[in-house]
Amino acid sequence: MRILTVGAGYVGGITMAVMAKHNKEHDFVVVDIDHQRIKDWNSDTLPIYEPGLDDIVKACDNLTFSTDVRGEIGKADIIFISVDTPTKMSGLGAGQACDTSKVEAVARQINKFASGHTIVVEKTTVPVGTCEILNEILEDTDNKSFSLLSNPEFLSEGVAIADLEVPDRVLIGGARPEALTRRPRWPRSTSVGCPSIAS
Ligand SMILES: NC(=O)c1ccc[n+]([C@@H]2O[C@H](COP(=O)([O-])OP(=O)(O)OC[C@H]3O[C@@H](n4cnc5c(N)ncnc54)[C@H](O)[C@@H]3O)[C@@H](O)[C@H]2O)c1
Repeated sequence: MRILTVGAGYVGGITMAVMAKHNKEHDFVVVDIDHQRIKDWNSDTLPIYEPGLDDIVKACDNLTFSTDVRGEIGKADIIFISVDTPTKMSGLGAGQACDTSKVEAVARQINKFASGHTIVVEKTTVPVGTCEILNEILEDTDNKSFSLLSNPEFLSEGVAIADLEVPDRVLIGGARPEALTRRPRWPRSTSVGCPSIAS
């Protein structure tokens, strides 16, 4: 499988690095619109300091960092949305509510450039109900279809690697059992069996 995260920040970069370390048979790609950030991930001085991160990134030849957001969306089997959700600065909820416009913008890009069946995962911290907005954006057609999962991240800066290696909780939710049971690709017209979901 080709697994993509959109957003090469604290969450996107580190979670993909740890997943790549433990899943050598899969390819992991991290994309970002911030060219400098991607350049830093590809350099000897990573944009983030986290104990143990340098060694993991150097050792993983199944992990790449790129600015080709559109191209990578088109090739991915699973896409994690890991962009930032700043506090709203204007309008309803200004100064308090979370601004999900970047998450929605990424979902629109996924809807446009994805191919075949794509599992889309909300990794970013978003308000309850955001999946309903994303499900409206991600439209199934004859050529493409989507399964939306929610898998919020609970890592803490400074101990992020340990939090990912031995998490004290993992939440995964979604409406389609096929996606929850890790089936990568299937034609839209095929009926997929639904084995019991592992914990
Ligand atoms: N940092 C933490 O410790 C932590 C822990 C748990 C959860 N979270 C949550 O995870 C989410 C991400 O946090 P973070 O700290 O990684 O954020 P971050 O600001 O470090 O990184 C976000 C990245 O997304 C990129 N981005 C924004 N829009 C984009 C687009 N349209 N296409 C491609 N890239 C785009 C930005 O350029 C940036 O590099 C937030 O919702 C945050 O609340 C963060």
